[in-house]
Amino acid sequence: MRSLLLILGFLILDSAHTDPCEGHTVLNDTWRNTSCRWTECVSDLKCDNGLRTGWYRFKSSGGWKISEIPVAEGHCSTASPGWLQGSHPTLEQGEGSGTVCFSGIGNPCSWKQEIKIKNCGSYFVYELKPTPYCNAVYCTGTATPPTHGDQSTGESSEQSSSVPAGSPTSDSGSQTINVEISSMTELDDDTAKKVALRKVQQMFQDQSPKQPIDWDQAEVQRWDVDEPDP
Ligand SMILES: *[C@@H]1O[C@H](CO)[C@@H](O)[C@H](O)[C@H]1NC(C)=O
Ligand SMILES: *[C@@H]1O[C@H](CO)[C@@H](O)[C@H](O)[C@H]1NC(C)=O
Repeated sequence: MRSLLLILGFLILDSAHTDPCEGHTVLNDTWRNTSCRWTECVSDLKCDNGLRTGWYRFKSSGGWKISEIPVAEGHCSTASPGWLQGSHPTLEQGEGSGTVCFSGIGNPCSWKQEIKIKNCGSYFVYELKPTPYCNAVYCTGTATPPTHGDQSTGESSEQSSSVPAGSPTSDSGSQTINVEISSMTELDDDTAKKVALRKVQQMFQDQSPKQPIDWDQAEVQRWDVDEPDP
C-alpha cells in the first residue's frame, strides 16, 4: 500500500490584520435601545461584563450606533448605560478613539471606558471591552441616518459599503498555512482540498481567534504531491 502526501498552502486572512469593517461580530440586541427602561424590554437587567474584547457592529431595530446623547441610569435594559462622550469619526477620519461614559445615580459619567470606533461608510464598528461590573451595557440610541453612504435606515448597508466584502486589505493581512494529508488511496484534487481546509478549520477552532476568519477567502496556493519511495 502506498501513501500519498499532499502539501497545501492556504491563504488565510489574518484575523489581527483584517479590516474591522469586515471582521466584526454583529450585536443585534433590541434591548440596547435607550428607550428601553429597566426591564421594560427584557426579563432581567442586562450586562456587558461577559463581552469579549473585539470589534462589534450594532444592527437591530433597537439601534445601530452608540448614543451620543447622555443616557440616565436605568435605561437600555440595565442600571448603568454606556453612551459616547463626543462624536463618531467621519468617513474621512476613518478610525478614531472615543470615550464611553457609564451613568451612575445622579452622575452621567460615573466611569469611563476608552474604545476605538471606525466609520465604515454606512455603519460604524466599535472595538469594545467588557464592562468591569454587571448591570452596565453599551447603549444604542437614536436612529439618525449616517452622514455618508446609505441615507435611509442603515439596514441595507452591505450594498453601499465602501469596502468590497471579503477582500484582503494587504499582503500582511494574510498568512499561509501548510497542511499535509496522507491518504492510502488516490484523492481527487477537489476532495483533497476539502479535507485540507477542514483540517485548517479544526486547527483554528481550538485557538479561538479574536475575529472570525472568512473561510470563503481561504484558497490553495501551493499544491505538491509527494510520493514517498516504496
Ligand atoms: C440575533 O442573531 C441571532 C443569531 O444570528 C438570531 O438567532 C436572533 O434571532 C437575532 N435576533 C434578532 C432580534 O434579530
Ligand atoms: C428604539 O428606539 C427608536 C428611536 O430611537 C424607536 O423608533 C424604536 O422603536 C425603538 N425600538 C425598540 C425595540 O425599542
